[in-house]
Amino acid sequence: MPESPESTPQPELFTWEFAADPYPAYAWLREHAPVHRTTLPSGVDAWLVTRYADARQALADSRLSKNPAHHSEQAHRSGRVGIPGERQADLMTHLLNIDPPDHTRLRRLVSKAFTPRRVAEFEPRVQQLTDRLIDGFAERGSADLIHEFAFPLPIYAICDLLGVPPEDQDDFRDWAGMMIRHHGGQRGGVGRAVKRMRSYLAELIHRKRADLGDDLISGLIRASDHGEHLTENEAAAMAFILLFAGFETTVNLIGNGLFALLRHPEQRARLQESVLRGEKELLATGVEELLRYDGPVELATWRFATRPLSIGGVEIPVGDPVLVVLAAADRDPARFAEENTLDLARKDNPHLGFGHGIHYCIGAPLARLEGQVALATLLTRLPDLQLAADPAELRWRGGLIMRGLRELPVSFTAQQP
Ligand code: HEM
Repeated sequence: MPESPESTPQPELFTWEFAADPYPAYAWLREHAPVHRTTLPSGVDAWLVTRYADARQALADSRLSKNPAHHSEQAHRSGRVGIPGERQADLMTHLLNIDPPDHTRLRRLVSKAFTPRRVAEFEPRVQQLTDRLIDGFAERGSADLIHEFAFPLPIYAICDLLGVPPEDQDDFRDWAGMMIRHHGGQRGGVGRAVKRMRSYLAELIHRKRADLGDDLISGLIRASDHGEHLTENEAAAMAFILLFAGFETTVNLIGNGLFALLRHPEQRARLQESVLRGEKELLATGVEELLRYDGPVELATWRFATRPLSIGGVEIPVGDPVLVVLAAADRDPARFAEENTLDLARKDNPHLGFGHGIHYCIGAPLARLEGQVALATLLTRLPDLQLAADPAELRWRGGLIMRGLRELPVSFTAQQP
């Protein structure tokens, strides 16, 4: 006899089984404990918010600060909250760690340099990078699409956009690799990678100041030179957060997205036919649906109550951390019909995959561009692409904030040189 929901025990969170498929546990939380205080694997206590309406409210609530100094436990000093490596004081003042009015000022400055137009003009370059990466394994008939494709594409793209010279971009690939492996537990390596990236960026900003170009770093410097203030430290922190926030997220959009497509042959076939006909619409709604269905950012970044507030009827004490579970909110049946169904043509899809409110993802246009170009090109150039592993055997990264595969082995008919 099936168990009634009342008798279903609370599922364990943050185990390896949970990492492979967290959605049943999130459904349980949404239903039984939608605003739930838990102890994270790091030992920090935090509230998990899982319903769509509560998630939207929390993401836009000014009583929730992004500044870790508001955490009652001061756990940020030990590096247990925040993103890896950011304890280096000069990288702390980035968009995801600050509140208005500083946030408003920095965001306005970066928005001047990181415009949707700049991103749209970048499409041919993303296409070129995508093709070059596929060329690297097309003759082999097999590949690990995380390591050989989803991982390098966003790194080279953001390096290009920032204006990192081509000869230095492989260093960034190595440093980014050390940072992503952080979730495997090699914390020392992250610190070293961040340090090297930091000093490289400082030096690059210094050099570009003397010789401004058309790239994003030059844009950030220019914005600072027009009466508003962006110090060299702030510019370096901004370049760092653009790299950091734009890298693993996009790896996971491509990785999780492909994985979902390969497991839903009928949806994949519809998308493939549509792309081959040169249509854009299903590709665009499809990428949004992949962001909703199994998005790259499982939990939004840390927020801390600066005043007493109530979320979903639960009182949150001052100083407590709040983590909005985007992956749970985006499958809330109260907002999404057939919430567990992948429907690439879904129209009513206000997903929270890019967040909501003043910290809404500034890189969303770039992420959409990369996701669309990557998926369309793979489906066109390798039309019989298929998974070369048992889906249950694939390993997921164990990080708290991000959700992504460690590897994605595929096979396809080898292409003639
Ligand atoms: C599919 C890929 C991506 C996803 C799913 C994603 C998701 C998100 C989410 C959920 C937030 C809000 C976090 C919060 O409120 O706690 C965010 C913020 C941000 N994202 Fe993205 N992102 C992606 C790609 C990018 C790219 C490519 C860039 C830049 C190159 C970028 C730069 C940023 C920045 C700078 C912020 C902070 C904005 C602020 O605090 O005002 N992201 N992103």
